[in-house]
Amino acid sequence: MIPREELLSLAREVALQAHCPYSHFRVGAAVVADGKTYVGVNVEISSYGLTLCAERSALAAAIAAGVVAGSITQVAVACIDVQQGASIQERTPCGACRQWLADLAPHAVIYVDGDIRDFTIENLLPYAFRYH
Ligand code: THU
Repeated sequence: MIPREELLSLAREVALQAHCPYSHFRVGAAVVADGKTYVGVNVEISSYGLTLCAERSALAAAIAAGVVAGSITQVAVACIDVQQGASIQERTPCGACRQWLADLAPHAVIYVDGDIRDFTIENLLPYAFRYH
């Protein structure tokens, strides 16, 4: 296990590379599998609806590097532009990312920067859709 604070710190650091010229809301994510880390940031494009969130970006990076779905053990997400003390709803993964997490990181512990809880995907997305 990578220490929680270390992984959150990596997510905050990578968030500096977010490409978000429209929202200016920088998000970073870091995932761990087999002791290795994979990072992602939100990427916004001119057709706003096609924006990629940081969590999906990190999950895709892990899969592209050969990580097997299900072997991801930890996920950290950092929204570095939220105000200190902002509610959890301004920091947690969006609905689409929750489904990605349910499919690709179902056993991971999920850390949200600024919140002390350790979440599971069941906490964030109960009754997640499954198709086998
Ligand atoms: N965003 C993420 O990267 N992850 C989430 O789970 C929520 C939202 C991004 C998308 C967009 O670039 C910006 O935050 C504002 O919605």
